[in-house]
Amino acid sequence: MKKSLAFTIIIAFVAFIASCGGNSTKTDENAAGSTDSATTETSKENPSYDPNRGEGKFTTVELGPLDAKKAELGDQVFQVKCSSCHKLTDERLVGPGWAGVTERRKPEWIMNFITNTDVMIDKDPEVQAQLELCLVRMPNQNLSDDDARNLLEFMRRNDGAK
Ligand code: HEC
Repeated sequence: MKKSLAFTIIIAFVAFIASCGGNSTKTDENAAGSTDSATTETSKENPSYDPNRGEGKFTTVELGPLDAKKAELGDQVFQVKCSSCHKLTDERLVGPGWAGVTERRKPEWIMNFITNTDVMIDKDPEVQAQLELCLVRMPNQNLSDDDARNLLEFMRRNDGAK
């Protein structure tokens, strides 16, 4: 009884390491080469997909100085809909931490991703690499356009925009 419990724990632990652990170990090995690294720059499978903009209704998002009011509203949405899976640091919770996300991603990409999540998970090579790490698909969050814009402002504030 005791032994089998310990065994179960070990198996669970190994499975955890294998899925969420070091992202360096299993990257370049898969010779079939689907999306084998997080730095894939162009999508061979989806030639029409623009990895900078993503896919969705937002084509250009103009950024000015930080809009404190929008950031505050974004914070409120974050608390309700996002904080269960995302931290504001660079630490992964269920999804990647948000620190630096506005530097990694274009504003259009962020707004398209959070309003058109399902489609972009299927098409974006970098998101697929993230998906392989933790095996969780970010669910669609049913955000309004305003929610999405406010969240972007909140992420910018988190990254120190003024
Ligand atoms: C159930 C967990 C979950 C919730 C809730 C969630 N996310 Fe995610 N998010 C993920 C996961 C997991 C990923 C990584 C991509 C994937 O595997 O789908 C991700 C990725 C992201 C990314 C890309 C980050 C990067 O570094 O590339 C952004 C931006 C994002 N989420 C925004 C949001 C916003 C905004 C909300 C709330 C409205 C939200 N997420 C709610 C799980 C979640």
